[in-house]
Amino acid sequence: MIGVFDSGFGGLTILRAFLTKLPQYDYTYLGDNARTPYGNKSQAVIYAYTRQAVEFLFARGCVLVILACNTASAKALRRIQQEFLPAAYPDRRVLGVVIPLAEAGIKVSRYGRIGVIGTRATIESGVYEQELAKLSPDVKVFGQACPLLVPLVEEGWVGKPEANMILKKYLYRIKRKKIDTLILGCTHYPFLQKDIERIMGKNCRVLNGPDTVSDKLIDYLERHPEIQRRLTCKRNAAFFTTDDPDRFELLGQKFLRYNIPQVNRALL
Ligand code: DGL
Repeated sequence: MIGVFDSGFGGLTILRAFLTKLPQYDYTYLGDNARTPYGNKSQAVIYAYTRQAVEFLFARGCVLVILACNTASAKALRRIQQEFLPAAYPDRRVLGVVIPLAEAGIKVSRYGRIGVIGTRATIESGVYEQELAKLSPDVKVFGQACPLLVPLVEEGWVGKPEANMILKKYLYRIKRKKIDTLILGCTHYPFLQKDIERIMGKNCRVLNGPDTVSDKLIDYLERHPEIQRRLTCKRNAAFFTTDDPDRFELLGQKFLRYNIPQVNRALL
């Protein structure tokens, strides 16, 4: 089974891409809706919450867990991979969304001027700068925290003039840097992709998590048959939330774009 973790609903956009491109596997999704958003929390708290979520998914039988949340990938993944897994679960894997997006960014960037937008925690972590520089030391990276975008998406304000005004205000700051590629470093931003592309103009490529991370997962499983062989393939998807299952079912459909059959409460 593949586990997909997010601080709330947003990671369902990533799960949707997995279900489309890798439908043969079983998935368990966990949204920590009771404690969302993670984007303004401290590193210690994000690590503690993410570790609990990973333990929950491992206990459900997941061999591989994808941190669909950019904030968790930025603030908790390294410690989970370097300290937690070797000590407690040496045979399981946890992957994030930052490295796949950084690799895709380097691949498509024409002039090595890459913008990244995300939550405050993701941008302040500097993780995209670090990962992009590892791949291409001369790359110029311009980060912009956009803390108002997650609530705008969750409130269904995409496309409203007020939302576009806020989006323009954030994006103009990095548009001025003449970036040729923009990484959407947050689960919620694919919902704004059309508006973002319009504002950034046709000379800027916009990369989103779901398309990029699902392609990278296909590639990862091909390169790691020892993990791939241990994944179950019954085409099941189970859903857990730390908050109200009925609300998750209702709002989650917007992110997943199909009816979620049954949602269970997770106690972390
Ligand atoms: N899932 C988070 C991310 O991708 C956004 C929501 C939050 O702040 O928890 O960074």
